[in-house]
Amino acid sequence: MHGVNLDTLGRRDPAVYGTSTLPELEVEVRRFATELGLEPTFSQTNHEGEFCEALHDAPDLADGLILNAGAWTHYSWAIRDALEVAALPAVEVHISAVSNREDWRRHSVIADLCVGRVEGRGVEGYREALEILRAELTG
Ligand code: DQA
Repeated sequence: MHGVNLDTLGRRDPAVYGTSTLPELEVEVRRFATELGLEPTFSQTNHEGEFCEALHDAPDLADGLILNAGAWTHYSWAIRDALEVAALPAVEVHISAVSNREDWRRHSVIADLCVGRVEGRGVEGYREALEILRAELTG
């Protein structure tokens, strides 16, 4: 689940976020997932309520979640609540190294609801997130 502004990958500060566009990233993530025997479904929205609704619907569609909620990660209590409602194993991903950037990016309101967190590894970080999720799902 890609959150706010992730649709601008490719033209958004490539020094921080790399040069892959979102469709290119999804091709890679699908490849990683297939290698791991997982079937990914993707979503992206710039609207907080839509992201919450996608979380409400998630238990009917998926066994687990990988979320890059973008800036919402740092302040959206609504998304935190919706993630709690979803009650699925979830991994938080950030393309950039949020812990080494501005202070406001260091805090995540969803981290304690997630089974794992990957940051600063670019597109490759999604492979790690998939591995964490698969380990969680297969016990
Ligand atoms: C991000 C990091 C967030 O701080 C930022 O607001 C984003 C992207 C990342 O993938 O590095 O939009 O989640």
